[in-house]
Amino acid sequence: MKKQVQALFREIYGDHPHIRTFFAPGRINLIGEHIDYNGGYVLPAAISLGNYVAVAHRKDSTIRMYSQQFPDSGVIQLSLDQLDYRSKHSWANYVKGIIQELLIRKYPINHGFDMVITGNLPRGVGLSSSASIEVLVATMLDHLFHLNLSKETIVEIAQYVENHYIHVQCGIMDQFAITFAQKNHAMLLHSTTQKHAMIPLNLSGYNLVVVNSKKERSLIDSQYNTRKNECEKALMILKPHFHVKYLCDIDYESFISRLDLFKTNELYLRRARHVITENLRTRLAADALMQHDLHRFGELMLESHYSLKSDYEVTSAELDALVELGMNSGSIGSRMMGAGFGGVTLHLVKDNDFARFTQSVSHGYHHRFDIEPDIFIIDTSDGAHELIDVRE
Ligand code: GLA
Repeated sequence: MKKQVQALFREIYGDHPHIRTFFAPGRINLIGEHIDYNGGYVLPAAISLGNYVAVAHRKDSTIRMYSQQFPDSGVIQLSLDQLDYRSKHSWANYVKGIIQELLIRKYPINHGFDMVITGNLPRGVGLSSSASIEVLVATMLDHLFHLNLSKETIVEIAQYVENHYIHVQCGIMDQFAITFAQKNHAMLLHSTTQKHAMIPLNLSGYNLVVVNSKKERSLIDSQYNTRKNECEKALMILKPHFHVKYLCDIDYESFISRLDLFKTNELYLRRARHVITENLRTRLAADALMQHDLHRFGELMLESHYSLKSDYEVTSAELDALVELGMNSGSIGSRMMGAGFGGVTLHLVKDNDFARFTQSVSHGYHHRFDIEPDIFIIDTSDGAHELIDVRE
C-alpha cells in the first residue's frame, strides 16, 4: 500500500523528491458500546484495514488534497487561511478541521503541502473511518512540521475536531484506539481517566469476523447526539441520589435498587440500564478474555447486542438478522458494533467453521434483504504511524 499511495501522489501531482507516507488503522470494539461518553470501559482493537496518506511540502501556503475514495471531488485546493467548514468539501473537512485546530493552538504550520489519501477501510459502517482520517492527518502534520505532539494530544485534538468542527458528539474510544493500539492486543480503556491496559488477543483457533450489512446508517449523527442527550437526562434523574459525575459511576446493584426514580420516565430507565449493564459486561468480558474463556466472552457479546437492541434501540432489522444468522451459523458470540443504525456486526467464529459461517450468513441475509453482505476476518494492527522502509 505504501507504493500504491506514493504512485497515486505522483499521478496526481507529478514527482517530488520527499514524499512521506503514513498509515492510520480503523478499529473494532469487542464490547462496551455507547458508554465511552458515559464514563465507562470499552474494549477496542485497531485493525489492519485503514487509511494511507502520501504528502510533500510546498513552499507557498496552498494545500491540495485528493482522496481516491472521493474521486468526484477531484483535487481540493485552498490556502492556510481558508479552513472553515464547508459541506461541499465533504471528506476534506476532517483535514481542514485538524489543521485549523492546530493553528488555533499556535502550532507552527507555516506552509502548505500536497496530499493524497487512499485506503481499504470501508467508510461509514462502524469501523471508525472518520476518526482514522483525523488521527492520520494529525500524525502526518506532527511529523511534517516537527510539532512534537504527544499521543494524548493527538487523541484530544482529533476528538475535539469531531465534536466541535464536524459536530458529532462522539466519545474518546475511536481516536484513542487508533492512536495507541498495539497489534495482537485489545485495549481495556477507561474513557474518563484514559487508563488503559493491553490484553493479548489469544483467540486459540477462533477469529474475529466482521460482517458489513451494507445498510446505510441514515440519520446516524443526529441519532447519536440524541442518545447522548437522553443519557444526560437519565443522569439528571439519578444524580441527586448518587452524587456521581457519569452514569457508569453507578454500579448495577445500586441502580437496580432505585428504579422507582424512573416512574414516569421509562425511556430514560432503559437508556441508563443499557449503559450501566454494558459497563459491567465490558469488565466481565475483559476478565473472560484474560482467562481465555471465549465462550463466556461470546455470551457477553450476545447480551450486549440484546441490550443495544431493546434498551438502547440503536440496532436495525439487518443487524438483528445478522446476529441471529451468525449465532445459527457457528458463531459463539455476535453483536452489532460501533454506533449502530446499520453498519457492521462482529462475530467470534472458529477457524474450521468460517467457510460454513460465510456461506450460511450470506445465503440467509441475501434471502431476506436481497443484499450480499461483505464478510471478512479481522487482523489487528498497531496505531497510526509513519511508513518507513516497510517491505511489501
Ligand atoms: C462511535 C463513536 C464512539 C463510540 C461508539 C459507540 O464510534 O465515535 O466514540 O461512542 O460510536 O460505542
